[in-house]
Amino acid sequence: MLLPLPCSAVPGDGVFPLAESTRITAPGELAPTARWLQSVLRPATGLPLPVSGMAEPAPAGSALALALDPDLPAEGYRLACGPGGVTITGGDTAGVFYGCQALRQLLPPQIYRAAGTAGVRWAVPYVTVEDSPRFGWRGAMLDVARHFMPKHDVLRFLDLLAVHRINTLHLHLTDDQGWRVEILRHPRLTEVGSWRRESQLGAAPDAPNDGRPHGGYYTQDDLREIVAYAAERHITVMPEIDVPGHSQAAIAAYPELGVQGERLEASPRWGINTNILNAEESTLDFFLGVFDEVMDLFPGRFIGIGGDECPKDQWDADPRTRELMAERGLGDSKELQAWFLGRIGAHIAARGRRVFGWDEILEGAVPEGVAVASWRGMTGARTAARRGYDVISCPDDQVYLDYRQSELESEPIPFAVPLTLADAYAFDPVPDGLTEQETARILGGQANIWTEHMDSPRTVDYYVFPRLCAVAEALWSRGGRDFDDFLVRLRPHLARLDALGVEYRREDGPLPWQSRPGVPGKPATRADWTEFIDGLVAHIKT
Ligand code: ACM
Repeated sequence: MLLPLPCSAVPGDGVFPLAESTRITAPGELAPTARWLQSVLRPATGLPLPVSGMAEPAPAGSALALALDPDLPAEGYRLACGPGGVTITGGDTAGVFYGCQALRQLLPPQIYRAAGTAGVRWAVPYVTVEDSPRFGWRGAMLDVARHFMPKHDVLRFLDLLAVHRINTLHLHLTDDQGWRVEILRHPRLTEVGSWRRESQLGAAPDAPNDGRPHGGYYTQDDLREIVAYAAERHITVMPEIDVPGHSQAAIAAYPELGVQGERLEASPRWGINTNILNAEESTLDFFLGVFDEVMDLFPGRFIGIGGDECPKDQWDADPRTRELMAERGLGDSKELQAWFLGRIGAHIAARGRRVFGWDEILEGAVPEGVAVASWRGMTGARTAARRGYDVISCPDDQVYLDYRQSELESEPIPFAVPLTLADAYAFDPVPDGLTEQETARILGGQANIWTEHMDSPRTVDYYVFPRLCAVAEALWSRGGRDFDDFLVRLRPHLARLDALGVEYRREDGPLPWQSRPGVPGKPATRADWTEFIDGLVAHIKT
């Protein structure tokens, strides 16, 4: 019962028992994968599972053998279990890793526990699995700015992503409410910007504040550790520094970055904020320096620069900004935003990287090498693909995992439209109406986990699982989508999540301690929401 569903799985007749004599064999380049496999099989089974190179093959019938076959697809694998043992062959090391994840799923769910369970028979059923992913970008975005997730929990989250073959963790590191990444040349970003006095309690505009300080940040050593831990699990961590909006925490630390020069604090309120960065050269220089440190920490191809939800009121009202626009030959504040992001994009491109920006980036001249994250539904995906840009699909009404999970009033802080497990499962990153060439622009998709209303890792578990299991299958599996079949496979998968200690949402709604009685939400109907989103994207439609 594999989840995500593989391309094919042909069962055989028999089982291969794991025993004291079982060894893991792997060529040198797969030694790290072999050691990782050993580390996840040992605690529950209590078996030694020594790792050996190919020079000293295991006796017949006693091996978990790892191998590479470049004729297999990227990230693809073949897992064959029979009387001779288990052989996992990957098109690359990631493929071998995903074959190992499949192997874990072939064992009883107790394999996911961190210590031995009495009376479990550790045996792998005979089977041949052939598998490879539909998309190369299988992502999850975690907003650690609204609520900080401690490093330990980020590492746990990476393990959970790896179980679901998600290969990209997008860390939303900065926002109005908090700055979470240590920047050595600008220490006040974390000294001042990494905490706020209090937080809005609930989603309603008139919701009260809770009177409780909130904060936290990752040191550069923490981030290097997170990046390396992720890499061992074939996950790329993509950082996002959100500019020129969503920047109040930075302005709180360095008031000279703001338009009004006013003393601000990291915002205690959710929602779209009018305090944006000014457009001075000195502010650009400041952020080019921030991005330099960020690029040193995160070696992946893409660097997130935000670009979303930037109200232009302060720019439009400010004589100095208007002067800067005139000097630069820019007609309006929309062009100024494109100019600002273009400068950052060029700096990132000059270092051989590419920028990742939200779909507002299509509203003006687009920075070179951009991948566009379509979040306001799929209009951005369609438009960007037609205009020849790469796309990551993350339509809010299908993969925004902060949206309420049902119509139940007991959903905690019910926000936006109901986004059920079935809705998440129906996600298709490829919008309809594209040519083959345009379709090739869709790199994949990601679920976005905004954390205004998730104040602890336990709450993140509730919102994210099992919806992320459905998104993972939408991103990985090539076959037709059958929700009933998914539900059948989800049942044993939930036993795996139980063993891992994941506090997922039960099918019938929140447990009493997962609800938030009395904390106001802001629910919307599908019809109202669609109208609202359509209005936002009307001018980027092609
Ligand atoms: C977003 O949800 N503001 C990208």
